[in-house]
Amino acid sequence: MKQQSAYYEPDGTDRATRRANRRTRTDGPSRRKAPEAMESASSRGGGRRLLVDKHRATTRILQAAYPFLAEGGIGAQGTYIGSDVFSGGSFVYDPWVLYQDRLITNPNVLLAGVIGSGKSSTAKALITRSLALGHKAYVPCDPKGEWTSVAEAMGGATIKLGPGLPTRLNPLDAGRQPSTVDADEWARIVWSRRRALLGTLAESTLGRPLIAVEHTALDLALETVSAQVPTPTIPDVVVALFTPDTRHTERAGLKTASLANDGREVAHAIRRLVHGDLSGMFDGPSTTEFDPTLPMVTLDSSWLSSGGDDQALRLTLACASSWLEAAVADPAGGNRYIVYDEGWRVMRDQALLRRMQEQWKLSRAWGVSNILIVHRLSDLAAVGDLGSEARALAEGLLADCSTRIMLRQESDQLARTASLLGLTDVEIVTIAKLPKGRALWRLPSRSFVVQLIRHAREVELFDTDARM
Ligand SMILES: Nc1ncnc2c1ncn2[C@@H]1O[C@H](COP(=O)(O)OP(=O)(O)OP(=O)(O)O)[C@@H](O)[C@H]1O
Ligand SMILES: [Mg+2]
Repeated sequence: MKQQSAYYEPDGTDRATRRANRRTRTDGPSRRKAPEAMESASSRGGGRRLLVDKHRATTRILQAAYPFLAEGGIGAQGTYIGSDVFSGGSFVYDPWVLYQDRLITNPNVLLAGVIGSGKSSTAKALITRSLALGHKAYVPCDPKGEWTSVAEAMGGATIKLGPGLPTRLNPLDAGRQPSTVDADEWARIVWSRRRALLGTLAESTLGRPLIAVEHTALDLALETVSAQVPTPTIPDVVVALFTPDTRHTERAGLKTASLANDGREVAHAIRRLVHGDLSGMFDGPSTTEFDPTLPMVTLDSSWLSSGGDDQALRLTLACASSWLEAAVADPAGGNRYIVYDEGWRVMRDQALLRRMQEQWKLSRAWGVSNILIVHRLSDLAAVGDLGSEARALAEGLLADCSTRIMLRQESDQLARTASLLGLTDVEIVTIAKLPKGRALWRLPSRSFVVQLIRHAREVELFDTDARM
């Protein structure tokens, strides 16, 4: 269909006559007609006219005015998000395409905004629409369980974890060996992944870094159980910590009794997953398998977090992400998003932060885009005192997110946001007033104000107001 322009006159005159009439009207003195005069002329003729307010300026001022310039956009390759508010064009985003185009330096994304500003909806839209491009998505942190219906609608799967629920994951599962990795290298990868997880769990529960003798105790316990069974479980490790194996201990030149003593605190800390409030979730062989061919896998921890126990949530995330890592670390697995919704709830844990930072650093090697969702940037500062390791790790995560999506921020957060992100005055004023679903998308050298446009089906699927 031919598009109707603002000057189209449906009066039956042919094109040439219309053009001639227009020339007569706009040429000479009539060009100087006031808008009122133009309007009355147009109503007489029955046509439609573009009415522009009169503006008078000196040529010195006008030399700098380029009224018909608009932002060129970042190309059309990627996932449609909505409209670019300033240019009116479509805005598409794909971290892997933008990385190749050198517009971003890493594929990680930070999404921040006040409660109910549309953070989750933005992430859900980006991800569900990206599945059509062959990307996959894992959501290891979903404390509200709001991604479950999305995963179901997309043909994915949800693993529900919580006390009393039948699903159990063994975080020490080896996962599938990538075809590109040989057996020896795979054994080393599996060992270091298991060891890293056990260290995270112990440090997270103890609330302090492990000391040298505890590291040794943990090393030898893992060595012992790995020699006994192909897939050890957490209870096996706890037993090996309480009662170290004499052969392994002596080979390392240590005394069994003193090693048992050195590892006691660590053993009690990890025991929380076996006999404590988290029992039944991570203390035996997995009852489900991770299917890396599914477009989307989410981990619903709403059963666990309904009591507001963030420590339990953090331990669960550590176990679950180690379990997911086996699939994610396969570089042949394609492009994948990993979403940490309500990420601020798990960030007060140094051990977990260290783990997340490693994942952030490996994102390019693995073809993974981590999406961290927080309320405000001060969430990153709240993890520890100035100069502390936790604070440095959290701020490092921000530095390793090339794309920052800012939804509305409270006025008391504007100054900090502006200084951390280096926003311009105009951008600061903009993010203070953004309506729902509209965000400032900030790439290292470009920024766009984008209105998320949702399909009626998405509105229904992403709704989180139902209980209101
Ligand atoms: N573009 C939009 N236009 C209108 N409403 C929207 C838009 N985006 C999201 N909403 C609505 O706003 C509500 C809150 O959205 P959402 O859950 O995404 O916010 P949130 O920032 O993740 O909230 P929370 O901080 O509670 O996690 C939802 O019901 C959603 O339907
Ligand atoms: Mg949300």
